[in-house]
Amino acid sequence: MAQIIDGKGIAGSIQKEIAEDVNFLSNNCGKVPGLAVVIVGERKDSQTYVRMKRKACAEVGIKSIDIDLPGDSSEETVLQTVLDLNTNPQVHGILVQLPLPLHINEEKILASISIEKDVDGFHPLNIGKLAMKGREPLFVPCTPKGCIELLRRSGISISGKKAVVVGRSNIVGLPVALLLVKLDATVSIVHTRTPDPKSIICEADIIIAAAGQANMIKGNWIKPGAAVIDVGTNVVDDPSRKLGYRLVGDVAFEEAKEVAGWISPVPGGVGPMTIAMLLRNTVDSARRASE
Ligand code: GUN
Repeated sequence: MAQIIDGKGIAGSIQKEIAEDVNFLSNNCGKVPGLAVVIVGERKDSQTYVRMKRKACAEVGIKSIDIDLPGDSSEETVLQTVLDLNTNPQVHGILVQLPLPLHINEEKILASISIEKDVDGFHPLNIGKLAMKGREPLFVPCTPKGCIELLRRSGISISGKKAVVVGRSNIVGLPVALLLVKLDATVSIVHTRTPDPKSIICEADIIIAAAGQANMIKGNWIKPGAAVIDVGTNVVDDPSRKLGYRLVGDVAFEEAKEVAGWISPVPGGVGPMTIAMLLRNTVDSARRASE
């Protein structure tokens, strides 16, 4: 039986550490860390994520600067919003919730964020440094950083291990693979064009599942004793629930927990860690700005 990795509990203790750091910065440096959270449009999932991020800021004493732009805002408006935030000294972190509406060039917007305030770690310079040996980005993307922190705080070593990342998105799959390489794992990336994903996944000591496919990874795909971090947040119909749906991961949890050594659940695994890492990056940025 796998040890269940309690992401909610771990994120809770990290939030306590962050609240203490915020207190220290405010009392000793007169600096209140500030995070600008920008959302463009009315996507329900994005609105939920943004609400959770803003609420978490309030819980630890970070000032959230809330910017809600209509879905038909021009690219120029979004760009100018970011440029204004870049020069606002009360803002230490800028988060532009993705995805953006299709008429806005995401690449252009992300590249316009000051790298010193890029708490999402999506600026090409920060990603580039993540990809290079001997270089350190100013910020590491929050979900990948949360995955590594779950492994670290569960006492799972990474160096020399075989890791398989399932998925190659810019937000999770690719950066988590780069991070694992930096931490000396031997890394494979499995994606939609991989002919026989099971044959690669079943050799892994560490599996990071970020495919966005409900229950894709079966119990018999997992090497006994492996550590499984499930990043999937897939909505499936469930008439027995009040809302008529529930969230499931990319891993068939009930089967997998009989085989794995460790497994993170959905919900309550990686999700809360993403938010904790965003707060961590914001406080680190505020601290750097006061140096
Ligand atoms: N959309 C899905 N995940 C993320 C994230 O971590 N940051 C931002 N900005 N948008 C997202």
